[in-house]
Amino acid sequence: MTETLKIGIAGLGTVGAGVVKLLAAHDRLLGLRGGRRLELVAVSARSRARKRDIDLSGVRWEKDALALADAPDIDVVVELIGGSGGVAKRLVERALRAGKHVVTANKALLALHGADLAALAEKRGSILAFEAAVAGGIPIIKALREGLVGNRVSRLYGILNGTCNYILTTMRETGRDFDVVLAEAQAAGYAEADPSFDVDGIDAAHKLAVLTGTAFGTKVDFAGVHVEGIRRVTSMDIEFAQELGYRIKLLGLARETSYGIEQRVHPCMVPLETPIAHIEGVFNAVAIEGDHVGKTMFQGRGAGQGPTASAVVADIVDVARGRNMPAFVVPAARLADKKASPMDRHVGAYYIRLMVQDQPGVIAAVSKALAAERISLESMLQRGRSQSGEVPVVLTTHETQEARMQRALAKISRLKAVAEAPCLIRIEAF
Ligand code: HSE
Repeated sequence: MTETLKIGIAGLGTVGAGVVKLLAAHDRLLGLRGGRRLELVAVSARSRARKRDIDLSGVRWEKDALALADAPDIDVVVELIGGSGGVAKRLVERALRAGKHVVTANKALLALHGADLAALAEKRGSILAFEAAVAGGIPIIKALREGLVGNRVSRLYGILNGTCNYILTTMRETGRDFDVVLAEAQAAGYAEADPSFDVDGIDAAHKLAVLTGTAFGTKVDFAGVHVEGIRRVTSMDIEFAQELGYRIKLLGLARETSYGIEQRVHPCMVPLETPIAHIEGVFNAVAIEGDHVGKTMFQGRGAGQGPTASAVVADIVDVARGRNMPAFVVPAARLADKKASPMDRHVGAYYIRLMVQDQPGVIAAVSKALAAERISLESMLQRGRSQSGEVPVVLTTHETQEARMQRALAKISRLKAVAEAPCLIRIEAF
């Protein structure tokens, strides 16, 4: 081990600049904690001219990020470019092939290529670390790799996307609709100009796939995640949720079933008395249930300059210490290739909101469709009378199989008195 750990950073956006700042701010402390000096020797980013408020004097600027992988004076490449392919992927692969360590915050890359990259790192004896890829500043990967490593994980779930949690929280607090809150969040810089990765659940699904692989010792399987976003959640659903004793959260959930690994990202009705119901705004939370530890929950900021830099630097310090562990806890060659449990097999309770013509016989027809699939109702609410003649009817059910619920809903959607596609939100029990 050389006396100084030499670092190259690719990508100087919010997170990259945050890492440069943190390394400078805690230079002495990090040297003590890492057992050797940490030195930023080179950086690379798309624009050199962009104002970043960081001191790069004495730091080499590489026009081509890939040069960081080839540079003989760099021990660890920190990849903060993002994206599942392109330069980010080429850089990580090339750095690992060159025997360098890699620290990355790139959940998309890991979700799609995690198992291969872990195998490559192990082949070269390099460290591949990605604490910042999941839930920003929350040290959840470390928790799974270290603090909880004695447990068999039975289930994990979490709020993995701050943008969605912010939108759902603001919808509840203000009574405004999704489109309005999203536009405001974009204007304030909280949501991306292209919000689809966040609001359609893809970002959360990337993170869930990485968490699942780490927790269950399985090959990261992004394609196996059932994904639904929050676009269809209305302020009406949020109000009904409150009335029924729930809060609506976009969760990522994973567990092992007899059909394989179930991974799902979708809006959930979460009982108000559970801690995760009270994680609000941009905050993230991850709950891990282990066979010996029981229930644990970690919460904190899932994005932003300081929190994400905190996670990246934790990995850099691990590299400085020479803590080389398999990226997904078990050696890459031993990661299980488990099947994805099909969503049809999911068993749970459901919230269904229908917009129906307020006329006799509608509820009877809806009940008949549910009864035909042996779905048992828990409650039913009908509110008011609207001028258009359509009123919301809300049903909650006892546990049933997803396939049954989908068949019943297909029938219900075809009823003449049902005005629009039913809104289905799964009720979770914790
Ligand atoms: N866009 C993400 C979020 C943060 O809103 O939580 C980065 O993963």
